[in-house]
Amino acid sequence: MKKIDQWGLEVFEVNQLTNGRPLTCVTYMILQKRNFLETFKIPVPTLLRYIGTVEKHYRKENYYHNNIHAADVAQSVHVLLSSPVLSSVFTDLEILAAIFAGAIHDVNHPGLNNQFLIQTMSELAIIYNDVSVLENHHLAMAFKLLQNDGCDIFANLSKKERQSLRKMVIDMVLATDMSKHMSLLADLRTMVEAHKFSKGISLSINNYSDRIKILQCCVHCADLSNPTKPLHLYKEWVKRVLEECWCQGDKERNLGLAVSPMMDRHSVSVEKSQVGFIDFIVQPLWETWADLVYPDANKILDALQENRDYFNSKILTSPSME
Ligand code: CMP
Repeated sequence: MKKIDQWGLEVFEVNQLTNGRPLTCVTYMILQKRNFLETFKIPVPTLLRYIGTVEKHYRKENYYHNNIHAADVAQSVHVLLSSPVLSSVFTDLEILAAIFAGAIHDVNHPGLNNQFLIQTMSELAIIYNDVSVLENHHLAMAFKLLQNDGCDIFANLSKKERQSLRKMVIDMVLATDMSKHMSLLADLRTMVEAHKFSKGISLSINNYSDRIKILQCCVHCADLSNPTKPLHLYKEWVKRVLEECWCQGDKERNLGLAVSPMMDRHSVSVEKSQVGFIDFIVQPLWETWADLVYPDANKILDALQENRDYFNSKILTSPSME
């Protein structure tokens, strides 16, 4: 836990050492370190009860979308928002909202993606009318759990603060829907260009729409951060994310549906999947984020490049992997 403020926390070790409660441990430590329990008058028992309940609602049987991923994203958000360039940009309430969004952003994920839920007319797809089905579900679940006895960690916030936090969390978690990726990235790029023109040394963003855009990108970057982590952690995430995808592919095959790209365990090359994921999704996003917070994320970009080189070299040297 000495690495709680650093990129590359040993989150799988934290999972083991906390007996399967990494989310509770990481969230408590971050809020404590940031003095948010005092600032927002959050009683420790209330925080532990709430976040413990959220943690239990993550499905342990999921290889990837589980409480370890939630802990990883919450901690990554914490580190990204500690970037010196952003130091005086966001209020404590905004930072609390972002860390909270990271912690709850996949709660009760069924291990199947939106497309599958929509195609099979699942109960969730019906409830949310095929629109950001999972993301709406995670949000509804997280806010519902706040209403459990002794779980309202925001009870001592003013009404205005509660409303503002709720709006921000909703905006951030809805933006984790991958179908929003391209437009979010385009908006971030526009903002980075505008900032370059203004030649500001530290960012100053005054309107809600720009501030929330950066926070949305921050949570989205954290959600897509496993390829930027130390290689041993990244490899563990790859194993998990692909196994979960392949289980969905098995379900699709059994139902007589077309097996989605990347989800066929019999034809996907692990190495190629990673190089493609980095080249088309992860790198463009992280390059833009790194531009925004220049030079604070340069080491993260270097790690991403090294990890890409690792998987790319495996494609070139191992014909059996083709
Ligand atoms: P989701 O959580 O809906 O949003 C982000 C998506 O990125 C996630 O689902 C996975 O499908 C995908 N993802 C995350 N990490 C990897 C990875 N290492 N390789 C391939 N896809 C990934």
